[in-house]
Amino acid sequence: MAFMTHLECTKCGAHLKADHPQTICPRDGGVLFVRYDLATIKQNFKRDSLSVRPAALWRYADVLPDAIPVSLGEGFTPLLPSREFPGVYIKDEGLNPTASFKARGMSVAVTMAKAYGLKKLAAPSAGNAASALAAYAAAAGLEAHIFMPRDVPMANRVECVTYGAHVTLVDGLISDCARMVAERKEKEGWFDVSTLKEPFRVEGKKTMAYEVAEQCNWKIPQGIIYPTGGGVGLIGMWKAFEEMEALGWIGSERPKMVCVQSAGCAPIVKAWDEGKPISEFWPDAATQAAGLRVPKAYGDYLILDILKKSGGAAVSATDPEITEALRHWGRVEGVFAAPEGAASLVAYRKLRARGFFTSEDKVVLFNTGSGLKYLEVIGGQKKSQKPPASRQIGGIIGPY
Ligand SMILES: Cc1ncc(COP(=O)(O)O)c(C=O)c1O
Ligand SMILES: [Zn+2]
Repeated sequence: MAFMTHLECTKCGAHLKADHPQTICPRDGGVLFVRYDLATIKQNFKRDSLSVRPAALWRYADVLPDAIPVSLGEGFTPLLPSREFPGVYIKDEGLNPTASFKARGMSVAVTMAKAYGLKKLAAPSAGNAASALAAYAAAAGLEAHIFMPRDVPMANRVECVTYGAHVTLVDGLISDCARMVAERKEKEGWFDVSTLKEPFRVEGKKTMAYEVAEQCNWKIPQGIIYPTGGGVGLIGMWKAFEEMEALGWIGSERPKMVCVQSAGCAPIVKAWDEGKPISEFWPDAATQAAGLRVPKAYGDYLILDILKKSGGAAVSATDPEITEALRHWGRVEGVFAAPEGAASLVAYRKLRARGFFTSEDKVVLFNTGSGLKYLEVIGGQKKSQKPPASRQIGGIIGPY
């Protein structure tokens, strides 16, 4: 692995080897970041060289682990100028394989799992990460063991089964799913690719910031609004801006990073409002934006630090606000957003009303997934679309 030098703990700064699978810091449970020899990379990897490379995530291979990519054509999604707000752009991640930004993280995580010789991967998921893991594991010829809340959007469940994953539906939230993976992984020989419990999903997601910078012709926007559950998108992008500065591609300027959460599960917003460096577990989390139903983010300390360092904000959006924004985007922009993505528009409107952003500011709103994954939610038939009671067949749920 040419330029990947080590893994670094984001809490104590410990250095760990990247030549075998690692999870979290053994000392303090800190999230591990992949570090590269950027000074050497800088000599040959110039931003002007990008234009001739394939329009996909792996165009940034020099700042990704050096392994044979497991790719389904993820990345380089369009940055659409808003028809409604001049200076506002919608980064449409719904066009990724498996129709969400989760494809990016799983492409890199599964690439590394294969490179390390792992055979069985497991993850708890609120929905879209499961679809992405199932697809990339299938492409890599690896087993995927997925634990999802029983009421995830139907598309996620059907996709995972179609990709041949072993699916367990859980009567609970993603936190309950995570506990089940943790309890069983050792006995079953699974490698846990849970959000921030391995270092490579962040690497995939950081490419969103490389793309935003490139698509903005290296003029960094004033703001980025990101729907935040576990926060990997936000954390990855911040890391990417630091790397781009080290490569000499941008200066010290940074966007204000804004986290938007659902009012029914807003632990980061609450911690931000109270000026706290970590969040508390959010009881009775409930929202139609399934990906935002994360009661306690493992990397909350990183998210809150990024909001502070960037002069950002944390905003919540209620389900009715999200529904209205989703329909509005559909009618006005021609974008069929995931509810999580539509929350970005709610946040933007609130921040404009507060004067946090002005009409002069260039702001990128992330639509993190496609509305096509949420037909029963958007069509208002959520209740009748509840998955049937699980029938376990050799660990695989059936029927569709
Ligand atoms: C469409 C969508 N947006 C946003 C998120 C939140 O992502 P993260 O956990 O990286 O903050 C998810 C997570 O499942 C999602 O599926
Ligand atoms: Zn540590």
